[in-house]
Amino acid sequence: MESSPNRPRVAVVFGGRSSEHAISCVTAGSVLKAIDPERYDVVPIGITAEGRWVLESGDPERLALTSADRLPEVDASRATVALSNEDGSSRLMVHEPTSVPRTLGEVDVVFPLLHGPWGEDGTIQGLLEMAGVRYVGAGVLASAVGMDKHYMKVVFQAHGLPVLPYTVITPRQWETDPATCREAVGSLGYPVFVKPCRGGSSIGISKVHDASELDEAVEEARRHDPKVLVEAAAVDGREIECGVIEGVGDKPPQASVVAEIQIDGSHEFYDFAAKYLPEEHTELAVPADLPDHLAKRVQELAGEAFDALSCEGLARVDFFVLPDESVVINEINTMPGFTPSSMFPRMWAASGLDYPALVDRLIQLALRRSTGLR
Ligand SMILES: Nc1ncnc2c1ncn2[C@@H]1O[C@H](COP(=O)(O)OP(=O)(O)O)[C@@H](O)[C@H]1O
Ligand SMILES: [Mg+2]
Repeated sequence: MESSPNRPRVAVVFGGRSSEHAISCVTAGSVLKAIDPERYDVVPIGITAEGRWVLESGDPERLALTSADRLPEVDASRATVALSNEDGSSRLMVHEPTSVPRTLGEVDVVFPLLHGPWGEDGTIQGLLEMAGVRYVGAGVLASAVGMDKHYMKVVFQAHGLPVLPYTVITPRQWETDPATCREAVGSLGYPVFVKPCRGGSSIGISKVHDASELDEAVEEARRHDPKVLVEAAAVDGREIECGVIEGVGDKPPQASVVAEIQIDGSHEFYDFAAKYLPEEHTELAVPADLPDHLAKRVQELAGEAFDALSCEGLARVDFFVLPDESVVINEINTMPGFTPSSMFPRMWAASGLDYPALVDRLIQLALRRSTGLR
């Protein structure tokens, strides 16, 4: 079963060991539905919460998110798969307890739909580099930097890109000298946001209104990541986002229309429930009702942020636009939420690239790139 040159084999990899396992499954359900089987030979591969790779059914119904009480997950009862590199080509091997290992054939491109650590952070990208297989999206360095809210800011600042004032709390600092940590936070001025450095989906994030709430918020963030970022709040900032796709050939990255997240008063910020649960209190305004000069500024900065990290494929860059019209970058996501109702695909749909076309474009960009140092 070799992949034909006309129908490249795409391994869609989802699930994974991070707290965003369920979100990844939801994304995979939509991508699997959107990939054109006439153009691609698709192999769904799940990574269980324990980290085992399995040949999934990829049934979109089962992968959908219907309520907070029943989060979709990778079916751990399925046969194990492994990526092996033989004679310079990457093959998928299936191991079932009762039969000899069989090959699923060569893989032309991997579509890693993993969010968070062990997925969006350069680790799977490193594995795929080692295996010599092409993949969709950012490489090792861009993924790792994009995942770490601390180093992301260091790189943005080095490129002269605007970010909010912040301080980092490492485990050693917190455990040996919490007073100095509290002081550093105090000098940012309350309110602040306390975040796990390598988190996502708002998990472990708190808005802290005064010093009395700080310790609890730091402990909560530390449950998800030993390294914690504390950041000045963007007071009355509008949450504006922009999608970026790698340019074709030597073209610069392309920015989508910009969009706005509007949360009603029942959520203090864009928390997990506001992000993912249906019937919640969030409006996505696509495009945003923003003056042209501000939208243009956001798009320029989005492209610069993409290049600052040497991103590839896709990224979503998130901003705060403050009442004085200053624009600051909140974060970049190298594997943004990717269901059809997620911001990134909606921004591209509003820019003329619908969901199936977007999926196709990303696979094509990945197929076109070289393996090894780029
Ligand atoms: N400095 C800030 N000022 C105001 N709101 C913030 C700030 N940082 C985070 N938030 C709110 O928290 C949400 C999640 O924070 P974010 O840094 O984007 O983490 P995640 O990677 O989990 O999305 C943001 O979308 C926003 O609503
Ligand atoms: Mg965010």
